[in-house]
Amino acid sequence: MSERIVVTSPKGGVGKTTVALHLGLALAERGMRTLIVDLDPQGGIGLSLAKRDGEWRGLVDVLAGEAQCAEVVVRTNEPRLAILPRGRLDPIEVPSFEDAVRTRGALDALLRPIEDAFDRVILDTPSGLGGITRAALGAADWALVVFKAEPLAMRSIQQVLRVIEHVREGERPELSLLGIVPTMVELSKEHSQSSMVALWTELEGVLDAAIPRSDALARASQLGVPVSYLGGRLPPEARRFAQLADEIEGVIHASRRGDGIETREQRALV
Ligand SMILES: Nc1ncnc2c1ncn2[C@@H]1O[C@H](COP(=O)(O)OP(=O)(O)OP(=O)(O)O)[C@@H](O)[C@H]1O
Ligand SMILES: [Mg+2]
Repeated sequence: MSERIVVTSPKGGVGKTTVALHLGLALAERGMRTLIVDLDPQGGIGLSLAKRDGEWRGLVDVLAGEAQCAEVVVRTNEPRLAILPRGRLDPIEVPSFEDAVRTRGALDALLRPIEDAFDRVILDTPSGLGGITRAALGAADWALVVFKAEPLAMRSIQQVLRVIEHVREGERPELSLLGIVPTMVELSKEHSQSSMVALWTELEGVLDAAIPRSDALARASQLGVPVSYLGGRLPPEARRFAQLADEIEGVIHASRRGDGIETREQRALV
């Protein structure tokens, strides 16, 4: 049984797609058979891999009944990583794509036949808390919230946490918060540091594996490759995603084993 992970944030351009892609790759490198699903009408995953609009068939074609999911899944050069692209979408058709994705049960019905072949399914969502994000949360086991370390980010994080709770209490009791992953962190800048301090002090579930603001990440997405696929020396940022994958796997395994928060007796060192 695969674990479905939604990558989400109310704000746009905060690094969701970058996290979805690099986390997917890191999980695959760790031995997990991983599928990244592009639920963004903008086709963020295809864009960040420098694919031309419409180059890949995908979800749109499956939802229109013109293809089977298994036919449009793209295999990658990382043997355990596959992508279910958005597919060919005329911008005029975006509202009907959104309607099709958010039709009750549609996403679940679409993923079920293929997910036996995967251990982890990562759903990249558009920004905002609209229909597609709600549908993804309503079909998921885990929500991974992306927090861009900048002023006012706390406000939008509170919104997404409220929506996750609402979905969990209503339609999807299996949904849990996987964690909050800080991105574009620049601890040398006062505004970034103060937003991190607010995050650490006010919220639980903040993951240790923060992603720094990085020129290498921006350059990699311009070239259409994950950062660890750039030529030259391996940029240190690549390791952050390996850490993120390890941390996330720790949370998932602890939860599936039914572990609570570890408590211990007080001891004496000497
Ligand atoms: N840690 C980082 N450091 C520097 N640049 C980054 C970082 N993460 C992402 N970027 C860059 O910021 C831009 C937006 O990132 P990305 O597309 O991942 O955001 P998004 O939240 O998915 O956006 P959208 O809401 O439009 O889907 C991209 O150009 C990406 O290369
Ligand atoms: Mg995106």
